[in-house]
Amino acid sequence: MPHGKSDHVHQKVDSLLALMTLKEKLGQLNHLKGNYSTDIYEQNVDLNKAIADGEVGALTPFTTMDNLIRWQKIATEESRLGIPLFYAADVVHGYKTIFPVPIGQAASWDMEAIELSERIAATEMASAGLNWTFAPMLDVTRDPRWGRVMEGPGEDPFLAGEIAKARVRGFQGDDLGAENTVLACAKHFVAYGAPEGGRDYNTVEVSQRTLREVYLPPFQEAVEEGVATVMNGFNTLNSIPASANSFLLRDILKGEWGFAGFTVSDANSFYELIPHGVAADRREAALKCIQAGSDTDLWSQVYIDHLEQLVSSGAVDPKLVDDAVRRVLKYKYELGLFEDPFRYLDSARMTKTLMQPAFLEAARDLARKSLVLLKNEQKLLPLDNQSRKIALIGPLAHSRQYRDLMGNWKAAGDMNDVVTIYEGLVKRVGKENVYLAQGCEAFGKCPTELTNQASAIARKADIVILAIGENGYSTGEGASKTNLSLPGNQEDLVEAISKTGKPVIALLFNGRPLIFHDLKRKVPAVLECWEPGTTAGDAVMDVVFGDYNPSGKLPITFPNDVGQIPIYHSQLNTGRPRSGPDDKRWGVSKWSDVPNEPLYPFGYGLSYTNFTYSKMQLSDSVISKADTLLVSVDTTNAGDYSGCEVVQLYIQDPVASVSRPVKALKAFDRVCLEKGKRQKVVFHISVDDLKYWDDKMNYKTDGGIFHVFVGSSSVDVSKMTFRLEDLQ
Ligand code: GLC
Repeated sequence: MPHGKSDHVHQKVDSLLALMTLKEKLGQLNHLKGNYSTDIYEQNVDLNKAIADGEVGALTPFTTMDNLIRWQKIATEESRLGIPLFYAADVVHGYKTIFPVPIGQAASWDMEAIELSERIAATEMASAGLNWTFAPMLDVTRDPRWGRVMEGPGEDPFLAGEIAKARVRGFQGDDLGAENTVLACAKHFVAYGAPEGGRDYNTVEVSQRTLREVYLPPFQEAVEEGVATVMNGFNTLNSIPASANSFLLRDILKGEWGFAGFTVSDANSFYELIPHGVAADRREAALKCIQAGSDTDLWSQVYIDHLEQLVSSGAVDPKLVDDAVRRVLKYKYELGLFEDPFRYLDSARMTKTLMQPAFLEAARDLARKSLVLLKNEQKLLPLDNQSRKIALIGPLAHSRQYRDLMGNWKAAGDMNDVVTIYEGLVKRVGKENVYLAQGCEAFGKCPTELTNQASAIARKADIVILAIGENGYSTGEGASKTNLSLPGNQEDLVEAISKTGKPVIALLFNGRPLIFHDLKRKVPAVLECWEPGTTAGDAVMDVVFGDYNPSGKLPITFPNDVGQIPIYHSQLNTGRPRSGPDDKRWGVSKWSDVPNEPLYPFGYGLSYTNFTYSKMQLSDSVISKADTLLVSVDTTNAGDYSGCEVVQLYIQDPVASVSRPVKALKAFDRVCLEKGKRQKVVFHISVDDLKYWDDKMNYKTDGGIFHVFVGSSSVDVSKMTFRLEDLQ
């Protein structure tokens, strides 16, 4: 924001604020639903009248452009001060052109592609009249029982932070006054991804050190990138609901970080202080939230209903309301809504903007990059174009229901636009060469007659492709599970198909890590496809047939057993570490009834080619705090396909004032090489990369020995050691 412009905006905000009644101020903090209503949030309001009375600041509408224009006309022509409305929506991974679910995007480790996806999402949603998205979701999580893994950045705070910056840049661009930029919203502040039991909306208890090391960093990156809004989580953090948690909102977000935007509650979460047991009624909920630093109210209406009396009775300082209103109005000016409240409301522009071929190509590119090759015995993949009969089997092979392949936050995405796996395959090999069988019903129920039908066509074919996993409603908000096996009895289908003796490729469609050791054992090739979005069939077949060499790396650990959760790469060493996977000694920290390793580790992903690492070097073995350590490694594409590799760098601080992770991701570089080519990858490590929250909660490093690991996953690494001295 150019300096002169921000002063000008502040003057305009102050002038307008001086004209506003208290009720009109509260109207700017009151966000209502447009036409779409969800069952648990009743809204008994005459919307047109509320807007005309200046009691609505934003709407979350999924509706026609005519309605958006009509409501904006009421706001700007019938209300006393004519303050325009925000129009907000959950555009989480695309608006009309749907990109892979965010956990899949995270598997691409491609920040440029992720930023482009949000640039496109912002362009499409702005053309449809929306100017504020409730995204990016930045909840780090180590618990795949939690259904919202699918919309987040995975288990690592560093990767999550890089994604946070890319998404905010994509949505907001460098000029909020442009026609194709929108307000972003970092959510859900904070640690909503760490609910006890992996049960959505449940209690969160984390130490301040864990909070600052794991859950806060991506939000801090988003704030430093200039994110306009932050949405609080539904959860209590150490027994205090996030909506009324002044430590989070005033001390950290607005205090330490200097956040200059505004907060928005998650849906109805101000009201939820009552069931949380920290407010006796809606009046007390309003009191606690405004005092804690919560600026605006999504759908609960406690602010518009109770703050006027609370301020006039002296219970709430009017300055708290003014501060919140200033934050809101600033962004209405910066979006250009006062200059032209209808600038986003142009049907003709929308029609020519949505689903442009270039947008679909970008979605297909990111979808390809999100796929993770987990297993490829006998180099079964990629398939060549030789003529063969292919049996395509599974409930996700040709599905247009339950938001399959698109994910639960599909915004305005149309299931009819999805390229199904079947359609993608037919485009490749011709209808006459594809035998299709569902094998199971939706939600994974596989009755015998369906598996028998599937087995019969498998026996007729030369090769089988399975399309199995979760359907669109099996993962996402409110979809917590204790059983992470393939839903239903899809393993029975896998068993039946593997008995035919045909070569089998399994395509997994899921929004969270699943547990599938039988599948892993029985099937020679497994490709993790997540929920790939509109271009699903095309992107998946680009990889299956080798047009694109898979380069994805897991952004979250896949457990071997649900009893292992939480299991993640950056765990502490404990006082009794195992010496390795085969350590059978009594008295070391291990489970006796399941393997102690994950099914697949963080950062893991295979390629059709073979990347080798050599010549790992450090620029010094001893550095001082002013130095930058150069860590270099040669990466060679030693195989038969060009491709991309995500070279990862982890650090361990083996002796510190508190116990430190055995590996902490500190850098990565996505390197693309023609076959036979080699590249020297150089990482720059500074003393800032070595700091941590010490035993006195100071953010610093105390020097000494450090181990640095470089490689193709969190377990397949080379290790070297250096020393940090001279901290004075
Ligand atoms: C939902 C989600 C939040 C979303 C909001 C509005 O319950 O928790 O991510 O932005 O409500 O739809």
